[in-house]
Amino acid sequence: MSKFDPAALFPATAMPDAAWWRTLWPRPEQVLRKVCIRPGMEVVDLCCGDGLFTAALSKMLDGRVTGVDIDPAMLTRAKRHLNRSGAPACNWLQADARHLSALLDHKVDAVFLANTFHGIPEQENMLRDLRTILKPGGLLAIINWHAHPREETTVLGTPRGPASEMRMTPVETSKLVERAGFALETVAELPPYHYGAVFRRG
Ligand SMILES: C[S@@+](CC[C@H](N)C(=O)[O-])C[C@H]1O[C@@H](n2cnc3c(N)ncnc32)[C@H](O)[C@@H]1O
Repeated sequence: MSKFDPAALFPATAMPDAAWWRTLWPRPEQVLRKVCIRPGMEVVDLCCGDGLFTAALSKMLDGRVTGVDIDPAMLTRAKRHLNRSGAPACNWLQADARHLSALLDHKVDAVFLANTFHGIPEQENMLRDLRTILKPGGLLAIINWHAHPREETTVLGTPRGPASEMRMTPVETSKLVERAGFALETVAELPPYHYGAVFRRG
């Protein structure tokens, strides 16, 4: 396990409290289908946090998943969640999301990146690196909070999510990702407050 430097954490990307997070995402497997993840793929769950989506991915893909997070405490929680949920074991990697290509020894069908993109500094550099770990025609699925004012995105009676000024519209996200060599495939609505933008490696 590599040394964990908290200074490398992206701003405003702390793992939310499980009580409201699981209320907001009651059916992670449906989210995966909406962003074009399909059985037979091999997927990286980038910035996987406590494993909510990693467990659903591992069930769908029979363990052909690598959960990546920089924080070892998150990986410990994610492994526990996978075990408890009965999902097949998958692969784990403690790594800075910005340097994945140096650490992954093979290419994958898709990268799934949920609830983190808004906080990544110099996003285009990371996107260019991610592009190199995708097979030709591979997918990048980005799940973001809609750019609604934070006070309007309440869960369990409290405003949630990143500060209003950090949020990105689907158009803003698409322009940035397309500049890094991807083509927009689809934008799926993920009610109540999110969208999933899916890109294909050009
Ligand atoms: C808001 S959580 C989202 C977790 C998960 N994707 C989800 O939607 O349930 C963001 C995660 O990104 C991780 N993270 C932050 N900076 C990172 C970095 N530089 N490299 C890899 N992971 C990072 C944090 O440790 C945290 O677990």
